[in-house]
Amino acid sequence: MTKNLYIVTGTSKGLGRALVEMLVENPDNQVVGISRSAVSSGDNYQHVAIDLSNIQELVYALPEIMPKGNYDKVILINNAGWIGEICPMGKLDPLGIEAIHAINVVAPAVLMNAFVNTFKDVNATKIVVNISSGAARKAVDGWSGYCASKAALNQMTLVAEEESKLHGYGIRYFALSPGIVDTPMQENIRNASAEDFSQIKKFKAFKSENQLSTPEDTAKKLILLIENENKFQEVLQDVREF
Ligand SMILES: NC(=O)c1ccc[n+]([C@@H]2O[C@H](COP(=O)([O-])OP(=O)(O)OC[C@H]3O[C@@H](n4cnc5c(N)ncnc54)[C@H](OP(=O)(O)O)[C@@H]3O)[C@@H](O)[C@H]2O)c1
Repeated sequence: MTKNLYIVTGTSKGLGRALVEMLVENPDNQVVGISRSAVSSGDNYQHVAIDLSNIQELVYALPEIMPKGNYDKVILINNAGWIGEICPMGKLDPLGIEAIHAINVVAPAVLMNAFVNTFKDVNATKIVVNISSGAARKAVDGWSGYCASKAALNQMTLVAEEESKLHGYGIRYFALSPGIVDTPMQENIRNASAEDFSQIKKFKAFKSENQLSTPEDTAKKLILLIENENKFQEVLQDVREF
């Protein structure tokens, strides 16, 4: 019988991909992964290929994403994220504005809502980790959707933790900033136009000066948080602090 259920979004590349590769090494783990590109990762990995900007598609797939059952651990990791179109207000595509909030805020909310509903009465270790960003607390030009959506994700996580305590759901919540990680998202940032993004040189230097963390090291820290949740009291966490 499967002991641990992990539901992870954004598993086709970057941090999510590195995380899944580590999780499937343990045969007690069953991993359900979500991204648009289909990927495989062994017998204990099941992929659900959907576009998280399409909320109806996500709602339809919920029974497959969140199988009911008795587990020792059930873990939801909202990792999928989009940096959005990198340009100032006035130049943004309105549909891109809708999409970034759907991917970075609405989809995690829908998954958290389903997670509470499905597992609140299950006697297991229950943890939700939302992958946030330092951008939640900064005003970065060209990133209005990204900064706003990660700030919303932090607040949503803080409220969910309060509700869990109030109603006795036994779910721990974290919003985790992963630091600056060498993934396709950073490549997208370096490919922005200098006219639309004043910090482009700084982000190019992070790469050329080898200041980026690897997805593997960051995934290890994420697993450390999950396996030692009792040692982490605050909801808002930053891997650079542990
Ligand atoms: N990299 C960094 O330096 C950094 C810094 C701070 C925070 N973060 C956060 O860390 C998380 C992981 O980032 P990353 O750098 O690994 O990003 P990434 O390399 O761009 O990978 C993003 C993942 O999310 C999936 N995804 C994106 N849009 C999707 C959609 N519409 N529907 C379904 N899946 C979608 C992608 O899969 P498909 O394209 O196949 O759909 C991919 O698997 C994100 O939440 C990001 O905001 C990253």
